[in-house]
Formats: sequence, C-alpha cells, structure tokens
Amino acid sequence: MKLAIPKERREHERRVAATPDTVKKLLSLGFDVVVEKDAGLMSSIPDRDYTAAGATIAADAVETFKDADVIFKVQRPMNDEIALIKSGAILAGILSPFADGAAIDAYAKANIVSFAMEFMPRITRAQSMDVLSSQSNLAGYTSVIDAASEFSRAFPMMMTAAGTVAPAKVLVMGCGVAGLQAIATAKRLGAVVSATDVRAAAKEQVESLGGKFVMVESDETGETEAGYAREMSDEYKAKQAALIAETIAKQDIVITTALIPGRPAPLLVTRTMVQSMKPGSVIIDLAVESGGNCELSQAGKVVLESGVKIVGHHNVPSRTATDASALYSKNLLNFITPLMDEESKSLNIDWEDEIIIGTLLTKDGAIVHERLKEGGN
Ligand code: NAI
Repeated sequence: MKLAIPKERREHERRVAATPDTVKKLLSLGFDVVVEKDAGLMSSIPDRDYTAAGATIAADAVETFKDADVIFKVQRPMNDEIALIKSGAILAGILSPFADGAAIDAYAKANIVSFAMEFMPRITRAQSMDVLSSQSNLAGYTSVIDAASEFSRAFPMMMTAAGTVAPAKVLVMGCGVAGLQAIATAKRLGAVVSATDVRAAAKEQVESLGGKFVMVESDETGETEAGYAREMSDEYKAKQAALIAETIAKQDIVITTALIPGRPAPLLVTRTMVQSMKPGSVIIDLAVESGGNCELSQAGKVVLESGVKIVGHHNVPSRTATDASALYSKNLLNFITPLMDEESKSLNIDWEDEIIIGTLLTKDGAIVHERLKEGGN
C-alpha cells in the first residue's frame, strides 16, 4: 500500500506530515512511503534523510499522489491536489472543514475517505493523536519567545553592580494547552506571571506552574460538560472587561490564547485597554487567525498603538517547524497504527470506533460527520 507525503503548499506552512523516524515505523506497518521532493526542507529534513529511512522521493505532486492509498497532509490539499487523489483513498490532515465547505463536498464527490485530525475526541486513548494539543503546546512556548524578542527589556530580575532590572510582568489569557505552556515558559524566563480563564478548573493548573490566577467572581460556569469554554453572558463579559482593564495596565506582556470551540475567538482586549498599557509593552495574540482576542491585532502583522506592539503571527506552530512536524507526524502515526492489521499488513478500520466517528468527514461518496451534516458547528 502506498502512503504519500506531499509537500505542503499553503502560505505560511513549513511543516511536513512525516519525519524519517515515522517513515521507518510506517514501513514496518506495511506501507510503501513516497515523499514529495523537498517536502521536509522547511522543517530541516533533507530528502536524503527520508531516503535513508526507506522512503522513495517523488519528483512532483502528480507522482506523489499517483495511486496513493493513504495521504498524510498537514493542511487541507489545494484544489488541484484533490483532483490527484484516487477514489477510495484515505486523506488525513488538519482539514479545517468549517473554513472550506466546498473542499468537503469535493472529497465526497471524489469518493475520498477524509479524516480531520483536529476533530480528534479528547479521550485518554486518543491523547497521542491529539494534534490540537501537540501544536498548541509549541505555539504557547513560541508566543513567549516572540514576546521576549519584541520586548526591549529583560524577562528575569537581574541585580547587577549597575542597578537592578525588574522582572517582566506577564498576563496569559486563556489557560488551555497553549496558555499553560506560555505560563511555564514565561516562568522559566523569570517573569512574574498571572493568568485568567473562564474555566475555574484552570486555577489549580495555573497555580501548579507558579502563576497567579485572576478570575471574575461569578456563579456562572464557563465550562461545558466536555470541559471546554462556553460563550459567556453579557453580564459576565462586562465584569471580565472591568477585571482585565484593571489588570492589564500593570502588565508588560500579554499573551492571549482564548478560544471557544466552533465560535469566533472572544474579544478580550480593547483599544482603550491597549492605550492604558505602558509604551514598550507587547501583546501576542495567538487567537488572531480565529478572529483575535485583541481588537487591534491583524494576522501577519505587528501593529503599533500608543507604543504598544500587538503581534499577530500567522501559523505559530510552523515557527517551530522541526518540532511541530515531529510531533504532528507522531500524531498521524499513532492514528494509523491501530487501523492496520498486523498480519495481513492491510487496513482494517472499525467504522464504529469513537475515534473514527469523531474524525471521519466523508466516506462512500457522502459527507458523514454529524457536525457537517447539521451544516453548522
Ligand atoms: P482552547 O484552545 O479551546 O481554548 C483556550 C483557552 O481559552 C481555554 O482554556 C478556554 O477555557 C479559554 N477561554 C475561552 N474563552 C475565554 C474567555 N472569554 N476568557 C478567558 N479565557 C477563555 O483550549 P484547549 O487547549 O483545547 O483546552 C480545552 C480543554 O480541553 C481544557 O479543559 C483542557 O484541559 C482539555 N484538554 C483535554 C485533552 C484530552 O483529554 N486529551 C487534551 C487537551 C486539552
């Protein structure tokens, strides 16, 4: 069976869906692995490393996709790539189903068996396949490194003969996977860290990392039964805005990571709040591609307002492409491994499995995912 690793073509994408390490394991599962020329280049993986691991290098996309039974992608394929996928083939990647409904229709029409890795159920068995966690963790780390490089002061307290440098004050908004890693990274750099979230469960996690938890006092719960954030009432939002306004003026660095599944990112930092910050402060908006947590952030830009820099990088996991590719490739390997029958070295998929039901978008020429069939989120 042929498993293809195309070169990613979307803008700002540097990751790749397999590493030499996962190629070896895919071969032992029974796949013939074909990697498109230069697919790993932006992740610092030269073709010769794939060849040494046992993969074949294909000259172009046509050759890569040709007769492939399984295709591993980072981002959803371009339209001309969809046309190269054979009927009945498996496609697994971060397929962004809500961003591009026409592509989902095209998968169904082309009889592609497509899996959206970002729909992975958050169950213990699927933790090693959870691309949102593996990539958010790196994004959280990178957000702090980006903040440090934009900030014209130091993070740790330094007592020197020439005087004392005060530690930077960092506020993290949203304490999911990215936020928690941002807290841990800022602490490691010596900052004084506080953090906020609508989920009360985050308090213990923030405190265990040495951060101070600040939260609106309210009877309203910010958590769904599944443990995710929900959209809050207007009354809660007003209270939260007052709390942020009071806290933010004292901060040097603000890292926003707040997301609500299936909804635009909540707006947490207004222009007035930005103007209340000291010149030289830095805001990193990790939610910029989902609408942004800061009123002023713009995707792909560093905006300057009253001396405050508001940073909205595209595709933050791609900024640590080598590690992001390594973890993402492992997620895909862990996903495909239980689907392979060890003896016959062929696919044997249990279509009733929670992981399959959770991630499968199209099969047998039709859109099968409940969230897509409902036509909403
Ligand atoms: P996310 O990326 O969906 O959201 C980031 C954070 O923003 C969340 O902590 C959310 O509560 C917070 N947020 C949303 N609206 C906010 C607002 N208005 N103000 C402040 N904060 C706001 O979060 P992620 O990383 O996906 O984690 C969500 C949940 O899933 C957590 O409970 C986490 O522990 C859990 N999780 C479970 C996993 C598993 O069981 N395999 C793996 C990863 C996460």
